[in-house]
Amino acid sequence: MKKKLSMLVAAFLAPSIAFGYPNGTPNYVTDAAPFCASCHSAVKAEYMPELPAAVAAKETPDNKHYGLIRLPSQPSPYIELTDEQKEKLINAAKTIDSNSTVTITAPQKARPGEEIKVTVKVKGGNGPVICVMLVDKPLRFQSRPVSSSGWMITGEPDVRGQDGKVQTLWLDRRAKDLQRNLNYVAIENQRFDMDKNIYPEGTVTYTLKAPNRPGVYSVTAAFLYGTENTDRAGFFQRPSGRILFSNEVGVRVE
Ligand code: HEC
Repeated sequence: MKKKLSMLVAAFLAPSIAFGYPNGTPNYVTDAAPFCASCHSAVKAEYMPELPAAVAAKETPDNKHYGLIRLPSQPSPYIELTDEQKEKLINAAKTIDSNSTVTITAPQKARPGEEIKVTVKVKGGNGPVICVMLVDKPLRFQSRPVSSSGWMITGEPDVRGQDGKVQTLWLDRRAKDLQRNLNYVAIENQRFDMDKNIYPEGTVTYTLKAPNRPGVYSVTAAFLYGTENTDRAGFFQRPSGRILFSNEVGVRVE
């Protein structure tokens, strides 16, 4: 309910982003890559090897998120909070981060054109929505949808949330005549209760046809989640979202 209210506030203040952020991106039902989440903090500076170290460091939670929370002046959207409230917010986000994980499982080898399954398991964030993307590399600004290196996602991803049941809520928003073989998936209606150690959780299984040309192809999962879920004005300016990558796995096609 609180969240609905904040969405209304956002609709009033910023019509162009009213239908997401937080609550994920209910209208972007298409292939996507992590660069889209420009407001999110990147969990590690190593996700930006192409940038000067100081610039990459600015994207991490310590600087981008907690730095802004502690900033005592405008344009901080946290300005109305007391120092104690600020530290509480930071500690909660740190707890969520330390409970957030993403893993990827893929076969080590495939024949050219063979169909394989890649399974991504995620846990963490504060819900109610979490997102998964299948990309080539763990790069915050330069990773690409996995299909860009020759993989073809051949079917609709199998999406399961906390309850372990198949969930098609988000895919069902796709226009009727379009294919549903997307690399980007939102898992919705996830419960969160930090005190009870309940975090959003999901498994996404992709079916992929291997590239035709032999070689070693990188596959990585990106996990997007939130850490605040605030109902305060200005929430959409907050860098409380996260981008976390799985290990990069190499599949040998031969
Ligand atoms: C205008 C800034 C902004 C942009 C751009 C943005 N996000 Fe976010 N996103 C947020 C904020 C703020 C949150 C709330 C985080 C929280 O709960 O603390 C969020 C949360 C999320 C969440 C978790 C939702 C939830 O209910 O907590 C997902 C998933 C997400 N974003 C995906 C994306 C994707 C995918 C893109 C690119 C298409 C994107 N975001 C772009 C600001 C942004």
